[in-house]
Formats: sequence, C-alpha cells, structure tokens
Amino acid sequence: MASRAPTKHLPKYKYGGDPLANSPPPELASIIDPHRGQPDALITVLEEIQRHYGYLPQLQLQYAARELGFPLSRVYGVAKFYNFFQFEPPGRNLIHVCQGTACHVSHCDAILQRIKDELGISEGETTPDRLFTLQRVACVGACSLAPVVVINEQTYARMTPEKTWENLARLRAQAADEDEEGNH
Ligand code: FES
Repeated sequence: MASRAPTKHLPKYKYGGDPLANSPPPELASIIDPHRGQPDALITVLEEIQRHYGYLPQLQLQYAARELGFPLSRVYGVAKFYNFFQFEPPGRNLIHVCQGTACHVSHCDAILQRIKDELGISEGETTPDRLFTLQRVACVGACSLAPVVVINEQTYARMTPEKTWENLARLRAQAADEDEEGNH
C-alpha cells in the first residue's frame, strides 16, 4: 500500500474580501462617472486615472473596465498601445523630455541620451533607488523655449545636456539630505 505523503503545513491564507465587490473609491468614481455611456472616452479616462494616481494601478483599471462596460483585455490593450501610460508607480522625480518637432531640431536627443547614460535607464523606466522616472513626451506647448525638459511639473527652457544633468544631480543631493534628516 502506498504511503501517504506527509501533511505540509501551508501558511494560513486570510481572505481579505474582493475589493471589486465594492463601489469604486470616490476619487475614481469622480473620474469615471462623467464618462458613463461614452464608448470613445476610454483614453480620456485612462489619462485622468494616470494624472490622479501618477500611473495606472491594476485595481483602478479593473474598476474602470467594469464600470464602463469594457472587457479588461481592451482596457489593457489600449493602455499598452501608448507608451505614455505607466503601470508602475513613478519615482520621486518625474523627468519629461520633450520630443516635439521644435525640441527635436534643437537637439533634445542629446539631452535624452545624457540622462539615460547618467541614470542607466531608458524611457519609461525608473532608477532602482526609485529617485527618477524618465519619460519622453510630445510637444508640451512651449516650443519657443525649445529644447524643453519638464521635471516635476517645472518647465526648464533652452536646456542642454549639462544643465539638465546639473538639475538632476541637485535633486539627487536634495533627496540624500532629506533622507538623512529623516534618519535623525
Ligand atoms: S516641441 Fe517641445 S515644446 Fe513644443
């Protein structure tokens, strides 16, 4: 007779309830509600979710799909099509390098390359210390100031690779000071 395998002591699983059984949280409902019954509003809703949360959290996408009546696969399909959308929380500092025409002819590529080289990340990525997230964006509407870099909502005009890196190095030093103060 075959002997029975010893009973394994599995970790206890505590069921925390299905978060989707509830209504969307109020801040998400205020994004979704104006777009109910609007089949063309999916991108707008995704943009607003990202603006509010800084990225597209999985749970919020599930709510949006259910509440607006889209298959979840369609929501992800649309979100993944545009590299503007992020699926991970951004780092402490968000860097947007403008890639519009005016910035392009003003050599924004050299700025982008310098940031990539210094930080060791590509567009859409976050440094392992979660200090910087790098994104390229289309025209930010300040073409006369090209090339433009936007760091944490602040627009920097007529940037060079060197000036951009000075700003990032300053933010890095600032973060180190803040962390040190927090440890005292
Ligand atoms: S192209 Fe960069 S601001 Fe317009």
